[in-house]
Amino acid sequence: PRRIIIDTDPGQDDAVAILLALGSAELEVAGITAVAGNVPLALTEKNARKICELAGRPDIKVFAGAVRPLMRALVTAEEVHGQTGLNGPQLPEPDMPLQDRHAVDFLVETLMREESGSITLCALGSLTNIALALVREPRIAPRIREIVLMGGGFFEGGNVTPAAEFNIHVDPHAADIVFRSGVPIVMMPLDVTHKALTTAQRIDAIRNLGTGVGDAVAAMLEFFERFDEEKYGTDGGPLHDPCVIAYLLRPDLFAGRNCNVTVETASELTMGMTVVDWWGVTNRPANALVMRDIDADGFFELLTQRLGRL
Ligand code: BDR
Ligand code: CA
Repeated sequence: PRRIIIDTDPGQDDAVAILLALGSAELEVAGITAVAGNVPLALTEKNARKICELAGRPDIKVFAGAVRPLMRALVTAEEVHGQTGLNGPQLPEPDMPLQDRHAVDFLVETLMREESGSITLCALGSLTNIALALVREPRIAPRIREIVLMGGGFFEGGNVTPAAEFNIHVDPHAADIVFRSGVPIVMMPLDVTHKALTTAQRIDAIRNLGTGVGDAVAAMLEFFERFDEEKYGTDGGPLHDPCVIAYLLRPDLFAGRNCNVTVETASELTMGMTVVDWWGVTNRPANALVMRDIDADGFFELLTQRLGRL
């Protein structure tokens, strides 16, 4: 199996992404690193443990990372995810422990110890932990197989400001470090995730699995979608983070191109904007495979099938 570390700020869509990974034998989750984002760190690390237990995987190692972005004050998103970050289902408090080590230490030690090119980082929140690891130990950069991240938006614009997507906006300086790192990046922007909508039919298919995981995910998605559905007037909300995991399982579900991505860190108006050179009008070299399209039906079929294995 392909070995991954999931860096995350759960978040209902983060939770579904973790479950998709744990339901997929092609992937081995070497650890989960939590970061502050959707809600503060004390909640994101706890939510990550709740989800591992829901999946019947209390053996997964969960680490807590950065409590705040590198330069800016933490901005959270309780209006989207609820006060706990995981509103919707009733999940018990976790019994499994939080690991003692800091998430950044775990990232550095694992990447330096394991065979070079064997670990993929799946980034589902702001990029603070990954940027800190790259700064702390630059020798990890060529050892990372790939960073697959949910973040940014270009033709679709932003979802927290007109210009910026939440994950990049929370810590634009960290995103800048990551996009300049030379590590191969696959980017799942809003241009993709706004096409992966949780329609009533798709949620029903998950609930009809008739399992504890199916019920919990259906409850999460029903809570999560109400916000975006109202906002964008769409049939269902966008299911952002699971696109990252789905890409590792079925890259053929996605289409995009290699281009240069630069992150705005200077202007307050456009702070955290991902400037994507889709048309190749600069001579800046490509640093990311930027996705723009998704086979949404194929994606939800895959998700439902894999959740059914838990
Ligand atoms: C991203 O922001 C968070 O609210 C979601 O979990 C996702 O990672 C979407 O902009
Ligand atoms: Ca997230």
